Amino acid sequence: MADYNPFAENTLNNPASAYGYLLTEKPVHHFADYDPPFYTLTRHADLEAALRDIELFSSEFGQGPRFTPPGGMLSDPPQHTFFRRLVQQAFTPGAIRALAARIEALAEELLDAVEGREGFDIHDDYGFPLPVVIIAELLGAPGEDIAQFKKWSDSSVEAMGASDPTPWLADLEAMGNYVLRQAQARREMASPPDDLITRLVQAESDGARLADDDIQSVIRQLLVGGNETTTSLITNVVWRLLERRELWERVVADPSLVDRAIEESLRYDPPVLGLFRNTTRDVTLHGVRIPEGSKVMMHYAAANRDPAVFEDPDTFSLDRPSRRHLAFGLGVHFCLGSELARMEARTALTALVKRFPDLRLENSGSRIKPFFLWGRRRLPVRRG
Ligand code: HEM
Repeated sequence: MADYNPFAENTLNNPASAYGYLLTEKPVHHFADYDPPFYTLTRHADLEAALRDIELFSSEFGQGPRFTPPGGMLSDPPQHTFFRRLVQQAFTPGAIRALAARIEALAEELLDAVEGREGFDIHDDYGFPLPVVIIAELLGAPGEDIAQFKKWSDSSVEAMGASDPTPWLADLEAMGNYVLRQAQARREMASPPDDLITRLVQAESDGARLADDDIQSVIRQLLVGGNETTTSLITNVVWRLLERRELWERVVADPSLVDRAIEESLRYDPPVLGLFRNTTRDVTLHGVRIPEGSKVMMHYAAANRDPAVFEDPDTFSLDRPSRRHLAFGLGVHFCLGSELARMEARTALTALVKRFPDLRLENSGSRIKPFFLWGRRRLPVRRG
């Protein structure tokens, strides 16, 4: 095949079409046509090793292809450990369980709204609002800001993937200012609400309050990390089940398959195709020298199709027992919201198959834009 270009139209529309080539012929791929040029790792074993070697493959310069300054959890230990511990308290198994009833009620509410319609859109009407509302409530942000949140988090991911982020800077600044206003309001309250923004405002590092930049960075990461990814998981799983309708019918007949469907969707269509690290010294892998200071993409999605780990990797199967996919990353940066995302997707899919067993795919819609993410931007469906 012609050499891999992550920004080519055919790759964007069908990223998996390149995985076989990368896994077998170019396990360390160099992409020169980007500023800065970057490398891509795809084999499962290579990703496992690299993601555990955080001294060599550092997160200090951001998760995107450009070099960005460290902030919050976008950093290496010890800074990373400090922020991770702080935010983790909001994501304990107990805290996630406590959200279950709210997520179920929200899923039902969203389905009530489309009940009388012949057709609707899984993205706009279901997959998008569910996680945005939940993350906004977790943070302690008022309901009326939700449409704004969505816009800001979309702008953040687009800026992250672009070599020139200028078109999105105004949105990023507006989001940063919003976070600071929320933080300031809590500082002035005698008894601020028990939410994540308050926790960040009250936290101390080396006896000092957190810097505004760090508070902004953590909130931005939660908004971005928790929104579009979970939306994509919901749209992607519904897409694949309806695309091969016998799979949808199996889940309708046996809703205990919902978890399998979600894990397989995470493997087959991971919402985050890959994220970046920065090498702290020269390293040679499979005969290719990666110089110090290079951006390296950890291609989670390609590793999820590695035949060394997954049998018949290009088939979406409800009968696959393994959960060794890398959709949530691995190691110290393993996704903090993985159980929340799974619970939201499980609740959404369970409610959908129960309420609309007769659902059909209208067409495959279109993909979301950023090259390192993968999800449906539209997924029109109809009843009957
Ligand atoms: C299906 C949904 C999701 C997917 C596919 C996903 C994917 C990922 C991946 C691949 C990473 C690893 C980052 C790296 O390697 O540098 C990550 C980290 C992270 N995720 Fe998620 N995520 C999802 C949902 C969520 C949710 C719902 C939240 C929070 C509400 C969240 C918050 C985070 C945070 C804070 C990190 C950074 C952890 C750290 O650096 O220690 N994610 N996520």
